[in-house]
Amino acid sequence: LDNGLALTPPMGWNSWNFYACNVDEDKIKQAADLLVSSGMKDAGYKYVVIDDCWQTGRTADGEIIADPVKFPGGMKALADYIHGKGLLFGLYTDAGYTTCAGRPGMYGYEVQDANTFASWDVDYVKVDWCDNRGMDPETRYTIIRDALENSGRDILYSICNWGINKPWVWGADTGNLWRTTDDIFDFWQRVTWIIDQNYPLANFAGPGKWNDPDMLMVGNYGNGAVFGEGMTDTEYRSHFSMWAIMAAPLIAGNNLSNMTAFTRETLMNPEVIAVDQDPLGRQGVLVSDVDGRQVYSKILQTTGTRAVVLFNRSESPSTMSVNFTSLGLGSSVAVRDLWQKADLGTFTGSYSATVPAHGTVMLKLTGTEAATSPVVS
Ligand code: DGJ
Repeated sequence: LDNGLALTPPMGWNSWNFYACNVDEDKIKQAADLLVSSGMKDAGYKYVVIDDCWQTGRTADGEIIADPVKFPGGMKALADYIHGKGLLFGLYTDAGYTTCAGRPGMYGYEVQDANTFASWDVDYVKVDWCDNRGMDPETRYTIIRDALENSGRDILYSICNWGINKPWVWGADTGNLWRTTDDIFDFWQRVTWIIDQNYPLANFAGPGKWNDPDMLMVGNYGNGAVFGEGMTDTEYRSHFSMWAIMAAPLIAGNNLSNMTAFTRETLMNPEVIAVDQDPLGRQGVLVSDVDGRQVYSKILQTTGTRAVVLFNRSESPSTMSVNFTSLGLGSSVAVRDLWQKADLGTFTGSYSATVPAHGTVMLKLTGTEAATSPVVS
């Protein structure tokens, strides 16, 4: 959506994956505090988004009511608190009659709710698709887009209709991001299932308009409220690497109060984040796949550079290669390993590495654009 927002994929934290419905004002304030003290804010995570279950009903004149028990200070004061930390404030709602947790949805209240959100200084709205009673998503999300646009506030618009009716086709004119799949859960097969639906949609993404493969599970280890037995560190790092090379929104969904060192290093690796946030805004593409040994490449803004993920989805460690000409580069390329944070030297023709099962090697390649037209464009 051409509203000047989300020129790079949005970054932040959302309450759902760890707390689900069990969310309140103190938890949101604590998350804001921890985004700052952990260094995540400085790493780029700016939006604090309250997901489902903050709303309880409507006043006689239709105004949406924030749960007075769980959010006693009200949403405007919470927005002030979050803004006071240099962060931005997001809220969840639903395009249908009720949210997935049965709270009031926007249907019939689009303009009133958009104006209420603006009066609360909301910067980001995530709009879900429960209880839609067979309505057409493009029509519904367009009505809400117009209501947000007319609210007088710059509000980033996140469409959450789980890929139904191909939101990537109509999303670019409607929202800043659109979910491409059903919900993420905290287990490995769910992550690869999402990747397989999201990676082919690269051509639809760009500044202001992103494919959204859902929020991050990194660091939950099965302890979050959302289903799943958790993943290994290796798997969480592959999850994060793939989100970065797919130029996905990086919305953390873990408990920020007890992050392991590995979780911190994964969520806050500046060079991996820079791949996600590259200003050119190209989503990476699959270059090759040999029995689940996949190579992905993302064109970066600086001429002659690529980000590459060697992603081993097989059950055994494997030696994997990336061929430079297959990426549209000349044969001589300097290789940097973004997780090891090490320059590996200059290579001719290709680079090979051993990649653990379910693991990833993430590289930045610096060379020259090939004279002939690239295979991957
Ligand atoms: C479904 C969405 O896909 C999730 O991200 C979350 O917002 C829940 N609904 C909340 O009910």
